[in-house]
Amino acid sequence: MKSDHKKVISIAEFRYPPAAPVIPAQLETPSGLLTDTLARPLRDLRISVTDRCNFRCVYCMPKDVFTTDYPYLPHSSLLSFEEIVRVAQILVAHGVEKIRLTGGEPLLRKDVEKLVAMLSALRTPAGAPLDLALTTNGSLLARKAQALKDAGLTRVTVSLDALDDATFRRMNDVDFEVAEVLRGIEAAHAAGLGPIKINMVVKRGMNDAEIVPMARHFKDTPHILRFIEYMDVGNSNGWKMDDVIPSSEVVRRIHEQMPLTEIARRQTSETASRWRYRDGGGEIGLVSSVTQAFCSSCTRARLSTEGMLYTCLFASGGHDLRALLRTSRNDAEISSAVAHLWRAREDRYSALRTANTPASAKRVEMSYIGG
Ligand code: GTP
Ligand code: 5AD
Ligand code: SF4
Ligand code: SF4
Repeated sequence: MKSDHKKVISIAEFRYPPAAPVIPAQLETPSGLLTDTLARPLRDLRISVTDRCNFRCVYCMPKDVFTTDYPYLPHSSLLSFEEIVRVAQILVAHGVEKIRLTGGEPLLRKDVEKLVAMLSALRTPAGAPLDLALTTNGSLLARKAQALKDAGLTRVTVSLDALDDATFRRMNDVDFEVAEVLRGIEAAHAAGLGPIKINMVVKRGMNDAEIVPMARHFKDTPHILRFIEYMDVGNSNGWKMDDVIPSSEVVRRIHEQMPLTEIARRQTSETASRWRYRDGGGEIGLVSSVTQAFCSSCTRARLSTEGMLYTCLFASGGHDLRALLRTSRNDAEISSAVAHLWRAREDRYSALRTANTPASAKRVEMSYIGG
């Protein structure tokens, strides 16, 4: 069935709240049963809205690589909001229920709340609203939380690698103070963007002394702290297995002081395993893509800032949707292309990775493809 891409709202006609929800016509997969070669459906779309960031986290955009001369994408190659929404609408018709905006730092993209409002008007073929989330470093959140909520954002995830100010400044490497990020978290909570997930990437010798203090700080709050194993993503961060603290060790260190019990994941495709404090103090999550890969249930596609579609975080190449968007007025053609590449998808990088995976394998940077 053909859909009419004119249904995508343009910024010029954009109103908040939108006059009517945008429900895509179902494209190739009436029951949303588009699956890949490993029977994984397409459920999540992560959209990178900028490859730039105001932080230089040592594990993501090391300062010596991401200098002012770094070849960031020129403005002309970015997808417009209309183009992003058009892709999202096509993927929603294929089964996507969850959209996450990432970067780089997504709050650096001009008028990002307009994009949020346009995406929040989309509905699944069954008429349900999407889960619309955003991952941010929190630096601009205190200022923007309310506008994001008003635009229809469902929730935010904030990256925060330490509470100790000196450690945090060393991790972000631009001397940014931790207090402003904590204010951002509180503003997001007050705006109703919770429960807020807090992502802490743990790098041995850099911030592992912060594991227990972070757990203690967020225990008995509505926020959910998640510890992320440092990954070998991109080619810039000089990753070594020795720098990874396995999740089992994170759990052990916390459990010694604040006893934990593992609980079931909410959905099989969730990245994090969940542990609750035995005294009722809430829960934490562990994203263990190095020591316990979760590829077998990976339902995620990623759209880069310039419109390349990637079917794995560790892919070395993407599929150029921007070219199609700019030459085709026909959504069905783009839809078929997406269906074709998802059906052919075999990716399971983390499951295949060994400590000896060659570092030379060319991969895209996390700041480009989106965390
Ligand atoms: P929820 O929607 O809240 O469940 O978010 P999520 O589980 O998708 O978590 P989030 O977007 O916060 O991702 C957490 C971290 O997990 C990311 O920053 C990455 O470091 C890692 N991650 C997310 N998706 C993938 C993936 O598909 N593969 C791998 N290897 N790591 C991932
Ligand atoms: N390993 C693990 N997570 C990473 N992120 C960026 N680089 C890495 C890496 N090398 C993730 C963090 C951060 C998000 C934006 O990207 O989770 O919160
Ligand atoms: Fe920026 Fe997030 Fe990467 Fe840090 S992890 S450099 S905040 S994109
Ligand atoms: Fe999915 Fe690739 Fe991550 Fe595996 S490594 S979970 S296939 S994105």
